Amino acid sequence: MSSPVNNRVEDIISSWQLSERASEVKANIIREILKITRRPNIISFAGGLPAPELFPLEDIKEASRNAIDNFGASALQYTLSFGIPELREWLSQWIKKYGTDATEEEILITGGSQQGLDLVGKVFLDKGAVVVTETPTYLGALQAFNLYQAKYVAVDMDSGGMVVEQVEDRIKEYNPRLIYVVANFQNPSGITLSYERRKKLVAIAEKYNIPIVDDNPYGQLRFEGENVPSLKSIGGDLVIELGTFSKIISPGLRIGWIAASKQVCNTFERMKQGSDLHTNTFAQYVIYEFVKDGALDRHIEKIKESYRERREVMIQAMEESFPEGVKFTRPQGGLFLWITLPEKLSATDLLDEAVQNGVAYVPGYPFFAQGGGHNTMRLNFSNAKPDMIIKGIQRLGEVFKKHI
Ligand SMILES: Cc1ncc(COP(=O)(O)O)c(C=O)c1O
Repeated sequence: MSSPVNNRVEDIISSWQLSERASEVKANIIREILKITRRPNIISFAGGLPAPELFPLEDIKEASRNAIDNFGASALQYTLSFGIPELREWLSQWIKKYGTDATEEEILITGGSQQGLDLVGKVFLDKGAVVVTETPTYLGALQAFNLYQAKYVAVDMDSGGMVVEQVEDRIKEYNPRLIYVVANFQNPSGITLSYERRKKLVAIAEKYNIPIVDDNPYGQLRFEGENVPSLKSIGGDLVIELGTFSKIISPGLRIGWIAASKQVCNTFERMKQGSDLHTNTFAQYVIYEFVKDGALDRHIEKIKESYRERREVMIQAMEESFPEGVKFTRPQGGLFLWITLPEKLSATDLLDEAVQNGVAYVPGYPFFAQGGGHNTMRLNFSNAKPDMIIKGIQRLGEVFKKHI
């Protein structure tokens, strides 16, 4: 907007001295792309949104009433920076199913795992500190760590996840502060780190005493194949695991958790006090009321069924509509799959044409901490309904066919 008042505000801000980090941090490109792709008639595979029609609206309504009935004014009061004890205790039992062993004192509730990433940055990173990442990696982690002016050493991935055989040399050369991975159904690639590689990664991290951060929003969303033991179940206190209810209940509630050693959680707690005092008390009680009697497990089964079908539909449509030379991953869980075009094509250049043709995606390059990936793109398969997925993939295939 260009009212005189707004112009003045812009002038003032440009003359104020901002912090180095505020001047350097760029907007999240996905959020920028999402603005374009919200136009009507566009089938968007660009966001990372869960399916809204699967949100447990009635159950959350009831849980909200129960939170007030059972906890009264406490549900609306300030609470502990660590989070409400009821939810932490429940989580410490529940995550065992997924192989993670943590006591109530080893779980800290966060405002989504994105806050977990910010707290990791606050605790471990100074200007120029090095983080080892997968290639590609989660853009939101780069955005969180950029605030602490981190540098990155990107390690290649193949179908078994991060090529951990490269990690030791990188550690010797760059002396990193931490290793960041999304071991299960990675955002953006959909790839899962193999068991053999998990063991190797823990052994290397142990040898050099470097913490591993396993950002795990999708671990509960395996709809095919065998579970792989979590990095934390292999590496214990060496591993800091980030969890969230965003993809298994709703992202709007903004509740996640960190599972880490007691000492590390205590340090996170001190950082969190300065950030937000504590996570939303009411949302924590609502989630507790929803999960405490097994409703979450039933709900997860329902979501998995639907996402399995959508992934199936997307892959089948891609096999039918994409020309030869376009490669894609076949994730066994999560929300995303990853496309690699022939080298000569740029996913960014094709985006305009795709949007003209009524379909949107996120180009892959922003997920590369050290550049590259111009011919890659991320597709989300959880948000659009099956008939829209088929139509959207056909539209994308038409664009590819013009260039291949
Ligand atoms: C790998 C990864 N980490 C963290 C987040 C942030 O999740 P939350 O909604 O819990 O903050 C996401 C969301 O897409 C993600 O994919």
